[in-house]
Amino acid sequence: MQSSLVFAADFRAIGLTVASVVLLGFVALFIRNIFTSRDELGSEIELASNKKEYLSDEELEGVKLDRSLSFALVVLGITSVALPFYWLAEPGRQEGAVAAYQLNFESRGGDLYTEGAQCVNCHAAGGVGGVAPYVLQDVDGQFIANASWTAPALNNVFLRYSEDEVRYILNFGRPGSPMAAWGTPGGGPLTEQQVQNTMEYIQTFEVQSLDTIDINFSDDPAAAQAEADELAIEIRDEVQRSLDDGEFSSIGEAVFNLGYFSGFQAGSLSCGRCHTSGWSLGPNTPWAPGADPLAEGVAGCGGGNPSGIGFSLCGTITERFPDDAWKLPDGSWAPKGGLADDDGFFYEAMDGSKVRLNDKGAPITDSGELYEVLSGGEMHGDLAECASISSLWEPEGISSEAYAYVEDGLPEVDDSADGFVNPEPIDLDSLGESDLMFADGRIGFSCDVIDMPERTSYAHFDFIYNGADAGSGYGRGGQSAAGMMPGFGKLLPEQFIQAVVDYERGL
Ligand code: HEC
Ligand code: HEC
Repeated sequence: MQSSLVFAADFRAIGLTVASVVLLGFVALFIRNIFTSRDELGSEIELASNKKEYLSDEELEGVKLDRSLSFALVVLGITSVALPFYWLAEPGRQEGAVAAYQLNFESRGGDLYTEGAQCVNCHAAGGVGGVAPYVLQDVDGQFIANASWTAPALNNVFLRYSEDEVRYILNFGRPGSPMAAWGTPGGGPLTEQQVQNTMEYIQTFEVQSLDTIDINFSDDPAAAQAEADELAIEIRDEVQRSLDDGEFSSIGEAVFNLGYFSGFQAGSLSCGRCHTSGWSLGPNTPWAPGADPLAEGVAGCGGGNPSGIGFSLCGTITERFPDDAWKLPDGSWAPKGGLADDDGFFYEAMDGSKVRLNDKGAPITDSGELYEVLSGGEMHGDLAECASISSLWEPEGISSEAYAYVEDGLPEVDDSADGFVNPEPIDLDSLGESDLMFADGRIGFSCDVIDMPERTSYAHFDFIYNGADAGSGYGRGGQSAAGMMPGFGKLLPEQFIQAVVDYERGL
């Protein structure tokens, strides 16, 4: 609103300037006419008697004059009413132009998707996913078979990856798979703008996530909730079906390999496609004689050829997330049960003080009460008691890292406007010492915090929930800072994530 007012003021100023220039022009013309006009030659009737007699003075100054003046008045009236309306509509025209550009980008992206770069050949119309032709070779480059490589659904890709991460994939492709590097940085044909346009287009067919925040901030929360329910049901049904049909023997295994036999969402929600050699070639490709990708000892052991981009989870997983241990603030792991001292178990808080753990390893206060970990599945890392916690919200188009705290955790709905009221961005510098920004972007106010060692199973769960972040190198064994491990928190129901954690820890 504020910005449209600014626009309105700008355009009024421009209008006034134009008007004054026109006025000055008229005055100048008038003065020039006076000086350059010739003297009256006398009565025309006398000079040319064949000319028709013109109106008499009475008529000229009466009806004729009135008519001309009325006409001028009407035109003046129309102009004075129409001009402000024109200016009033100007901000709308600005928005329209922005929207038109957006549509333009999307349609150019659509052209690239379907024709220019032919993403559609592998990822299908609407990004529902498909397969890509692939020539299977052995280690010496000898032909083994013509195969199909699962090309994941893209209609959920922005729910698993951030924009930067998707841009990275488009720029650099997935070496060792049919997904080529498309962007100039990776040696591909598409310019930065074309990559951006393609992303804008992909965003037009993204599905609804299961995330309550996404649901609440959609244009139509009720419809979004219904869509999210439908998605959850679809995923649950597919997991159940695969168990009923005997494809897998546990929920964890079924989620890990979601879509392996059925092609559900073109494998996009599976883990196997990146963590199991040969998974993406499907059950019918004899990619290595005798090696069934799902056989014991192979499933979860990615990194071989042909494989996706993940690496082996077999055995290594408990190194990265040791069993029942605490990850300390310096990144090292405390032994099972925490650090023992004479009084029992404790770990060190950020301020150097020691916090005791009970015999189950849960931290307790001096009076013996349990510290509570806030907000369920999302904040396992930090142990904090905050007076209030802000909602996590990043409205489109406003690039600020943090948004104002709202009492009930969600922004207010303003009935007079359509949609939600944008909270004012928080000035991060103004945060006090007892305020806290959590890893997921929310802000806690007046918090008592101890830098809580992460509990193994929490850390593992969190990693799958959030994925690897682009730009920050990921711990021990981490491959890059490219953020290639997707986050599944917006797509997989939480109990499925827990099931897959349990499954992986048994690999
Ligand atoms: C020749 C087939 C083919 C074409 C053409 C193609 N892709 Fe892909 N794409 C794939 C395959 C196969 C994968 C999966 C690679 C893997 O297993 O890691 C993939 C992966 C991706 C991913 C990562 C998705 C994820 O969840 O891992 C994105 C994003 C993507 N492609 C976008 C595009 C876009 C946009 C285009 C067009 C500019 C495009 N692709 C063109 C085959 C293709
Ligand atoms: C698109 C490919 C891809 C998919 C799909 C994928 N991962 Fe990963 N995963 C990776 C990559 C790449 C890494 C390494 C992360 C890094 O280095 O940044 C990784 C790392 C991991 C790690 C850490 C391994 C270790 O030893 O440190 C775990 C655990 C994991 N993934 C679990 C999963 C689970 C569970 C799923 C399915 C719900 C899954 N992954 C789906 C690519 C993928």
